[in-house]
Amino acid sequence: MIPVEFAILAKTVSLLTHIVMMELRLSYFVFFLLLKHVNGDVSFSFQEEMKRGSVIGNIAKDLNLESSKLSTRNIRIDATGNRKRYCDINLSNGDLIVADRIDREELCGEKLSCVIKRDIVLENPLELHLLSLHVQDINDNSPQFKEESINMEMHESALRGARFVLEEAHDADVGHNSVQQYTLKKNDNFILSVDGNTIELVLEKELDREKQQEINLLLTALDGGSPQRSGTVVIHVTVLDANDNAPVFSQAVYKTSLPENSPVDTVVVTVSATDADEGVNGDVTYEFGHVTEDVKRVFSIDRNIGEIKVNGAIDFEAAMTYDLRIKAKDGLGLSSYTKVTVAVTDVNDNIPIIYVKSLTNPVPENVSPGSEVGIINVQDADSENNQQVRCSIRNNAPFKLVPSIKNYYSLVTTGQLDRELVSNYNITITATDEGSPPLSSSKTVQLSVADINDNPPVFEEQSYSAYVTENNKSGSTLCSVTARDPDWRQNGTVIYSLLPGEVNDAPVSSYLSVNGDTGVIHAVRSFDYEQFRSFKVHVMARDNGSPPLSSNVTVSVFISDVNDNSPQILYPAPEGNSFMTELVPKAAHGGSLVSKVIVVDADSGQNAWLSYHIVKSTDPGLFTIGLHSGEIRTQRDISESDSMKQNLVVSVKDNGQPSLSATCSMYLLISDNLAEVPELKDISYDEKNSKLTSYLIIALVSVSTFFLTFIIIILGVRFCRRRKPRLLFDGAVAIPSAYLPPNYADVDGTGTLRSAYNYDAYLTTGSRTSDFNFVSSYNDNTLPADQTLRKSPSDFAEVFGDCDSSPEVGPCTS
Ligand SMILES: *[C@@H]1O[C@H](CO)[C@@H](O)[C@H](O)[C@H]1NC(C)=O
Ligand SMILES: *[C@@H]1O[C@H](CO)[C@@H](O)[C@H](O)[C@H]1NC(C)=O
Ligand SMILES: *[C@@H]1O[C@H](CO)[C@@H](O)[C@H](O)[C@H]1NC(C)=O
Repeated sequence: MIPVEFAILAKTVSLLTHIVMMELRLSYFVFFLLLKHVNGDVSFSFQEEMKRGSVIGNIAKDLNLESSKLSTRNIRIDATGNRKRYCDINLSNGDLIVADRIDREELCGEKLSCVIKRDIVLENPLELHLLSLHVQDINDNSPQFKEESINMEMHESALRGARFVLEEAHDADVGHNSVQQYTLKKNDNFILSVDGNTIELVLEKELDREKQQEINLLLTALDGGSPQRSGTVVIHVTVLDANDNAPVFSQAVYKTSLPENSPVDTVVVTVSATDADEGVNGDVTYEFGHVTEDVKRVFSIDRNIGEIKVNGAIDFEAAMTYDLRIKAKDGLGLSSYTKVTVAVTDVNDNIPIIYVKSLTNPVPENVSPGSEVGIINVQDADSENNQQVRCSIRNNAPFKLVPSIKNYYSLVTTGQLDRELVSNYNITITATDEGSPPLSSSKTVQLSVADINDNPPVFEEQSYSAYVTENNKSGSTLCSVTARDPDWRQNGTVIYSLLPGEVNDAPVSSYLSVNGDTGVIHAVRSFDYEQFRSFKVHVMARDNGSPPLSSNVTVSVFISDVNDNSPQILYPAPEGNSFMTELVPKAAHGGSLVSKVIVVDADSGQNAWLSYHIVKSTDPGLFTIGLHSGEIRTQRDISESDSMKQNLVVSVKDNGQPSLSATCSMYLLISDNLAEVPELKDISYDEKNSKLTSYLIIALVSVSTFFLTFIIIILGVRFCRRRKPRLLFDGAVAIPSAYLPPNYADVDGTGTLRSAYNYDAYLTTGSRTSDFNFVSSYNDNTLPADQTLRKSPSDFAEVFGDCDSSPEVGPCTS
């Protein structure tokens, strides 16, 4: 079977091997030698059939790696698909050890050089080295003939020198270990002629069927191994009468090609041989010569017509060529041989297979674009173009494949990941080969994104407002704030708290509290609208990440009024405490302003919107009170018949729900004359207790003084009335500042009330020019409270004298 050139080569190799073997035998156990180490590729040469665990070589040394780094770099022999690795790497010392039975004959058959190629893969960074394992033959197979005995029929007429072809022996070993020589056991008739692969019996002495009808010959085949192995066959020669011609094949070699996966019964080739003889001597039958078991499984031959058909699966990936030895035999046993070479052609029948070699999963969302998250390897068992694979990512995920070494790709990110937008990626990798039609496969890699605390909590509103009515219960709920944080678990867990601060010089925590989990804000105390109407606090939302992120929001609390303050009468002083009396000139016309009730209400709005009513009066028709101004005016001209003493009870109500009220009494004296003063006593005494006599005396003295003063005023009035007497009481009524409670007194002379109190009350009670002018004009003289009534007549004269010149006091000038 081995061509002549190979035989010469085999002899050369065998010689070399022989020398090497001598060396090896001396050094007992050195089974391998390192051939070369080029470009990071390593190759080892060693003998087949070494025991599992035997050391072939040291990878670490050859690749210049430290043994300690081997396992961290995940060094491994990469065998794709279900191909065997044959050897492993000892991670502790880098030894390459035998992992599987390595039978050269099974691996490489008749090939002279038997090389197993595997990849050595290292990660971090990814490195790939080619590992070539040169498997050396050992003489573990004996030469073998196809049959134990060969039956030959020879015509007795055969001439001396006639040649009869014998089938050669076969030895699965190669080179020197294959068949090297044949010997024929000494006999009377035949000698052996060996020329290359052709073995022939040469007739040395003519046969004589009559003398010897049957001859047995013993043929021995010897290989060149050490120790030498041999095989024998018995040649059983039957001496016949005739048959002169052996069959002759039409071709010495048949060459054909066959696509893989050809169906059973596909005709591969038809061989034909002719035999010049006639009848039985010319009937040619065909059969396989010495062929491997493989060939017998895959092909069949038709005995009669020499048609070779497919009988099993043809797989290019399993065998690329088949050599078939075909024997043609005529009816009487003369035979000849031919060879059929079947080249199997590749069909694109293997889809590319995608292997995920490593994957970082989950990937933190803050990896920078371009980071490697995985290594992908693609394999296609076909050859040539059918093996060229392109790889791509189908969906528009932010990942791409970067070609690395050979069929390796790095899976890298192309953009920033954001777990809050996409937390899981299904990355579909598609591999397509360049066959026709192309085959493709895809694999989906699931990658999840791990959270990083990159989002602060965000409040749902820009700011919050809470409205609460005063006098609330402490602990009542004001409002709630909500912040959202899209991060995961504790990175997205929001905790609320009040930022420290002060409201009216007290810490905010004494006003409000916030529930850390729910964001519900409670009042800690009861609020008083009259103290403050609104305040602001800052609430912080913080997540539980490390480090935590936070944001804050302003919460404004608005306190609304409740009608909890009743009107407070400033003038006249509340009933029973004083004996205020207004003088009404007898000449007063209808509509003249007589007096004014001055009331304040600490509430605001409707709760301080006051209305005045006369609830009781001596003469109901005589006086009216302005519903909202509190001004008491005559309803008609005073007549002589009107009683001098008039008594009014005024009630003041605010407009709250429910409304609150206050009442006061007002004593009016219709008189121009001071002489009538003593009668005042009756008015004030109407309902007084006699025990107050002493106070009354003091009061009477005061009143007398007042009347004395008043007479002077009247005189002044008369004087003025000569020009325009009626208007005196029309424009304004003097309200002595003494009637204002201390807090209401103007201390800085601006004529306004102290700002701490709202003076809506004044504005609602006062009329246009109203009170402030008077307060201000009295303040010019800054009277002490208790001296008001004792002001000297000249002082009053001054006031009224001003009337003439001052445009401020309308009645006098206009
Ligand atoms: C990814 O695939 C899994 C299972 O096939 C599926 O449950 C999941 O919803 C997919 N995710 C996306 C983002 O498509
Ligand atoms: C929260 O974020 C940090 C980094 O900011 C990360 O280390 C941690 O794993 C995250 N926690 C969760 C539950 O995802
Ligand atoms: C509150 O938030 C503002 C911006 O919204 C920030 O400038 C300020 O520093 C924060 N205050 C606190 C105490 O965190």
